[in-house]
Formats: sequence, C-alpha cells, structure tokens
Amino acid sequence: GGADNVGGATSTLVCVVISILAYWMTMRLIPFVAAKTLSRNMFGKDLNKRGTRRGETRVPESAGLACGGAYAMALTMQQLCQRLVRVAFGQSAGSAESWAVESNSALACVGYMVFLGFVDDVLDLPWRAKIVSPGFAALPLLLSYGGATTVLVPSPVRAMFNFPADVRSIDIGALYMVYMWLLVVFCSNSINIHAGLNGLEAGQSLIIAGAVLLLNVMALTSDPSDEPITAGAHLFSISLVLPFIATTLALLTHNWYPSKVFVGDTYTYFAGMTLGVAGTLGHFSETLLLFFFPQVLNFLYSTPQLFKFVHCPRHRLPIFDPKTGLLHPSKATETRYNMNLVNLFLRLFGPCTERALCVRLLVFQASSCAAAFVARHVLTGVWK
Ligand code: UD1
Ligand code: MG
Repeated sequence: GGADNVGGATSTLVCVVISILAYWMTMRLIPFVAAKTLSRNMFGKDLNKRGTRRGETRVPESAGLACGGAYAMALTMQQLCQRLVRVAFGQSAGSAESWAVESNSALACVGYMVFLGFVDDVLDLPWRAKIVSPGFAALPLLLSYGGATTVLVPSPVRAMFNFPADVRSIDIGALYMVYMWLLVVFCSNSINIHAGLNGLEAGQSLIIAGAVLLLNVMALTSDPSDEPITAGAHLFSISLVLPFIATTLALLTHNWYPSKVFVGDTYTYFAGMTLGVAGTLGHFSETLLLFFFPQVLNFLYSTPQLFKFVHCPRHRLPIFDPKTGLLHPSKATETRYNMNLVNLFLRLFGPCTERALCVRLLVFQASSCAAAFVARHVLTGVWK
C-alpha cells in the first residue's frame, strides 16, 4: 500500500546515506589497516612488476579488513535505522523483526567469512580448510531462508510430461537448500581463485555487485504486479549490495594498477559471501550463477589443478618479462600451462601489460553480466 511505498523509498534513502558513510569510512580505514599490517610484516610482493621479485616493493596485505569492518558497521547501523523507519511509518513490528532475522543471518555469514579470510591471511590455511569452512558459514543463511524452494518448469518440458494446466512449478524442498548451500560455498571461493592482477579481485566484485543492484532495481520498477514478498526481497538485497559497492569502490581506488594495497583473502572471501547472500536472500540465485559465469569457467578449468591431477604451484600468476614489461602465460609443469582464466586470456589474445590484462578480464566480466540479463529475459518467456 501507500505507506509501504513511502517506507520503501525511505528505507532505500537510508541505505544510500549509510553507503556513502561506508565509502568514507573505508577510505579512512584503508591507510590505517595498511600501516598496521605492514608493521606486522603482512605484505606481499607485487609479482607482476619490474624488480619486485627481489622484494623491493612491499605492498601491505589484507586491506579488505577495512571493507569488512566498514561493511559490518553499515549493516548494523542500517538495521537500527530500518527499525526506526518502520516505527515512523506505523508498520507492524513483525516486518521489522523479519528484516532483523535475515539481516542478522547475513551479518553472521559475512562476519564469519571476514574472520576466516583474515585468519587465512595471517596463518595461510591449507586448501581443504578454505573449501570446507564456508560451508559452516553459510548455514545461518539457509536456516533463516524464508523464500520458496520451488523451481519453475519450462513450458516445453511441462507439455512433454503432461503437467496439469495449473501446475507450473515443482517444490524440490531440501534439494533446493542443498543447491543454495553449494552455491554460497562456490561464491565464497570463486573470487579468490580468479585473482593475482592489480584490481582484478575488487574489479570483478564491483561489476557483479553492480549487476545485482541493477537486477533488483529493474525488478522493483518494472513489475508492479510483483507480490509484496518479492518486492521485500529485492529491497533487502539492495540493502546488502549497496554498502558493499561503496566499500569496494573505496578499495579499488587503492588497489587499481599500480596497487598501493592488496585486498587479501579477507576481501575475496568477504566479497564472494556477500554476493552469494545478496543473491540468495534476493531470491534470484539462478541469475546470480549467470553473473558468476567467468568464475564458473575459471573454476571448472582449474579443477585438474585444484584436485591435484595436475601439479598446482602456490601461485598461478603469469610470468613477467622485465625486458618488455609484458605478461606471459606461466607453466605448472614442463608441458602444461597453469589452468586458469588469467593464463588462458594471455594464450588466446597474446602477451600484454598487467593493466591491459585486467581490463580485458573485466570487460569479459561485464559482458557476461550483460548476457545474463538477456538470457534471463529470453528464458522467462520459455519458463512461464
Ligand atoms: C590464489 C590462487 C593463486 C594465485 C593467488 C594470487 C588458486 C588455487 N590460487 O591463491 O594461484 O597466485 O590467488 O592472488 O588459484 N599478488 C600480486 N598481484 C596482485 C594480487 C596478488 O602479485 O594484484 C600476489 C602477492 O604476492 C600477494 C599474493 O599474490 O601477496 C596473495 O596471494 P593469496 O591471496 O594469499 O593467494 P591464494 O588466495 O592462496
Ligand atoms: Mg587470495
């Protein structure tokens, strides 16, 4: 109703103001975190640069801690403000409470991952631990998930199996929960293994987050027949993704080529989990997977190395040629190249500078997200 719309507009405004504050906060925190990590000898060598193999440039690690910190503050402040807005607009206590339940579970998942990422930066966790831990981090999210567990069945398939005319979807219940669990575990790891160039981790996350925001805004503005529950889910998803965009933008100003800070696993886990949560609680996890197309590709291509059928070195970064300043694909063994998207792009499109390679990969990311919107549009016709 009218009051709800006013409340929706106001809560979006609250979200915008808090996101601007989160950007400012992250900008203030990054130099502080960088100085602190450097003084604790937490730095990385910028491997794709001239001379740095000998360790001349020490780039502070874990700047993502600034993002995670500012983001956690933004989410808690937002919860407080959302409650005040709902009281001001005379809405039921119930709506504020269900917001709080979802918001708290999002906070639990994201906070868990920031912690895990920072532990990884400090202690260098074994790969098994990195894969398994997000599974636990994702549980609060699944347990508070109040959305549908049904999947729409495409009309040709319905015709094939003689579905009754009024049945358009089937409830797959627990199976859907397993799917969402796998999705979130995948998201949390996938950004981290599509990495190693200045600006790539933060850049890809920013583009996906932008796509998530756009999808929510389009859904809210284009379909007035949407049920209130769906509109609520999109509003909620915006409230998660907008502060994330703000903190990531701040990070990118420091992490873009040539990087003054590294994002650390603190950021990559935080980013993957936040996007996974925003997609799941926004009830569009299928489209989210399309936004993650480069990461899916990178993961599938990497599996021989991830599962140790092919040797996996500690770093799968390209090789820097100090004579030309260009990057070349790196090898895992005498005969095989490292199997990830970064090296594949170098093999397909030829050696180039670090900045150019990052831009190429980000253009691919943006194209994948654009294609996802088209696919979503085309498929809804078939699916309905
Ligand atoms: C993942 C990748 C690894 C890749 C690394 C780079 C897998 C299985 N693991 O490991 O292959 O080499 O990320 O991020 O795919 N660095 C740069 N320039 C950058 C970013 C990072 O030189 O723009 C280097 C720095 O030395 C930095 C280090 O990478 O210290 C960070 O690596 P880390 O995030 O700890 O590696 P993993 O996530 O374990
Ligand atoms: Mg990493």
